[in-house]
Amino acid sequence: MRKPLVAGNWKMNMDQNDVNAFVSEILDKISANDVDVMIAPPALFAAGMQKSFGDKIRVGLQDISAHDSGAYTGEISAEMAASASIQYAIIGHSERRTYHSENDHLINTKIQSAIKHGLVPVYCCGEKLEERESGNHKEVVISQISEALQGFSEDQLKDLVVAYEPVWAIGTGKTATSDQAQEMHEAIRNCLSELFSQAFAEKTRILYGGSCKPSNASEIFSQPDVDGGLIGGASLKVDDFLAIVEAAK
Ligand code: PGA
Repeated sequence: MRKPLVAGNWKMNMDQNDVNAFVSEILDKISANDVDVMIAPPALFAAGMQKSFGDKIRVGLQDISAHDSGAYTGEISAEMAASASIQYAIIGHSERRTYHSENDHLINTKIQSAIKHGLVPVYCCGEKLEERESGNHKEVVISQISEALQGFSEDQLKDLVVAYEPVWAIGTGKTATSDQAQEMHEAIRNCLSELFSQAFAEKTRILYGGSCKPSNASEIFSQPDVDGGLIGGASLKVDDFLAIVEAAK
């Protein structure tokens, strides 16, 4: 049985005052439940938030460096994150691929780094609009996964989370239908089964991301291969985010 995970990706939003208000409001309202909850704020706020959250909510980074330390101005390593009690790292988000030219080869090295330092990698994949329109969407996503996960053993990837995020649905208000989401999640699970084993595929959580909100979360999460969500815009408001967490129960 896979435990659902609802993860917020704040992207480059919220300042210190917003963070303080969000943290106290969510700690007030969140109830213990059977869903793992993670929030990835701008890195500046991550360690402080994790301290405030304790065990109630996990904090993740939105990206990590492929390197452990050294002359890489502006980067943050998995080793540093782990030393500040951060447990998750989003890796390969489409905005990193688009604005920072990340590809699955680099993403593979970032996943290696996350695993080496005990972080849970939340690996993002997803097709662009033209790839969906041309009917190649499954091939595109399977080839992303095959390259990003190449060379790992099943044991190394035991905590892996995959986030399917159709690029055309991110921040656009357009959501994949629950059938489209299920079709791709099933294809991803089959791919994991072929690359590793059926048991591995069965226990790996696959999240849906792309304009997921309180009004559509229940329907998407009701699909058998959808194990929660990676939430952008709707993770910035406590009530919306908790309504999505509720939908994952
Ligand atoms: P969105 O973003 O929910 O605002 O579409 C999702 C994501 O990019 O993780």
